[in-house]
Amino acid sequence: MNVRLSTGKEIPMEMHKVRIVQKTSLVPVEERLRAIEEGGYNTFSLKTKDIFIDMLTDSGTNAMSDNQLAAMMVSDDAYAGSESFYKLAQAIEDVLGFKYVLPTHQGRAAEHLIAKVFIKPGDIIPMNYHFTTTKAHIELIGGQVLEIFADEALNTQSKHPFKGNLDIQKLKDTIKKYGVDKIPFVRMEATTNLLGGQPFSMENLKEVKRICSQHKIPLVLDGSLIAENAYFIKLREKGYQNKTIKAIIKEIMGFADLFYLSGRKSSCVRGGFIATNKKVFYEQIKPWLPVYEGFLTYGGMSSKEIEAMAVGIREMTDINVAGSAAEQVKYFAERLIERKIPVVTPSGGLACHVDAMMFLPHVPQSEYPAGALAAAIYIASGVRSMERGTISMDRDEEGNEVFSDLELARLAVPRRVYTIAHFEYVADRIHWLHRHRDLVKGLRFVEEPPVLRFFFGKLEPIDNWGSKLGEVFKKEVGAHW
Ligand code: F0G
Repeated sequence: MNVRLSTGKEIPMEMHKVRIVQKTSLVPVEERLRAIEEGGYNTFSLKTKDIFIDMLTDSGTNAMSDNQLAAMMVSDDAYAGSESFYKLAQAIEDVLGFKYVLPTHQGRAAEHLIAKVFIKPGDIIPMNYHFTTTKAHIELIGGQVLEIFADEALNTQSKHPFKGNLDIQKLKDTIKKYGVDKIPFVRMEATTNLLGGQPFSMENLKEVKRICSQHKIPLVLDGSLIAENAYFIKLREKGYQNKTIKAIIKEIMGFADLFYLSGRKSSCVRGGFIATNKKVFYEQIKPWLPVYEGFLTYGGMSSKEIEAMAVGIREMTDINVAGSAAEQVKYFAERLIERKIPVVTPSGGLACHVDAMMFLPHVPQSEYPAGALAAAIYIASGVRSMERGTISMDRDEEGNEVFSDLELARLAVPRRVYTIAHFEYVADRIHWLHRHRDLVKGLRFVEEPPVLRFFFGKLEPIDNWGSKLGEVFKKEVGAHW
């Protein structure tokens, strides 16, 4: 919820009290330099002890509620027939309207099962945008991801409220070109993570579903950020202002033949599931669940997480939960925009994304501007962000680089974890870095893994720019900061 101050300014207001805290510390710049060098200029390799504010991801890093924690105390650990599972199934039926549930240990496990059951080599999967793990699972089976977003989606300086929309004409053309037999399903992602957490509109989803139904192609919905997508529909789409988040989520679900999510985002708990009302889909996936995840009533999740998820699924329909990250992201983005930092607009559902090609125009994509920017932000602030650009794309079969559509340093906002003071600090340090952006150069790989290379890859700074940046920081801001 936003509160209007007497000056007219609006600030995001936390509609909760913080009763458990975790201590953090800010190590001085010299130690940050050592940490990033040891970590191969890859923020995934940093350790918590060296991080002040962790904005790597909003995945599994959200604050849980008192009721989620309380629910974890009464979980049922039965290997089969666990009461905890039936509570989750009931919550899914009440909130999302699905009868059949297949729990998985997290979102990518759901993607693995869906890819295994529905995709065959040579298939095409049209979608509004890929996520890294989604693409990896589809390609490992021999399928191909086809992104058919509207052109505006790649404009980082946009006012378009629904950059996560699928381009309807391109969908029609795709079906005509490849034929129904090659398209096992169309996938929609609720707030396209890699495009900056940008939502789709209800109108667009409805139209996608209409085309899919005409051709009897199932619609698969990735709802990892379903609460945030619903929140944006309420805020930005005509006719939805007076509807509840709960009603909007239910309406979205009416269009999905198969739904899955990573519980680590909207529902604030580690885990995932697949849900559907189509018995045939359920029966097709079910035999594989114990092979890869676990028995039907736990699917690789602990019973405690299942209990917390049952609560989290209900709580995400509260507007103050659904909007908690989105409003902080907006506040943070505004602080950066007023300092002339190029961030993705409109602000999205999970993070503030800095456009690295605009921030570092002198660094070519072959030298990974988003990776360089993420490393530089860490050196200048102790804040950990994530590269979402070419490093996050793997090479093609011939070993050529696949340049990402966008080069973004993603500063994720875990739900109910950070305060306005934290965002003011990060905005100040990024502003300092922006004034010294000429000191930041590119990166090159020293060790490059063959798949999802962004996780474990090791890089080095071209011309040793990290140390020079550190030296200037010490002189201008102070060695103890
Ligand atoms: N789908 C979306 C849209 C996601 O954002 C993620 C994870 C997944 C699927 C995979 O789920 O992690 O539970 O296996 N996103 C995380 C992130 C990793 O940092 O954005 P998972």
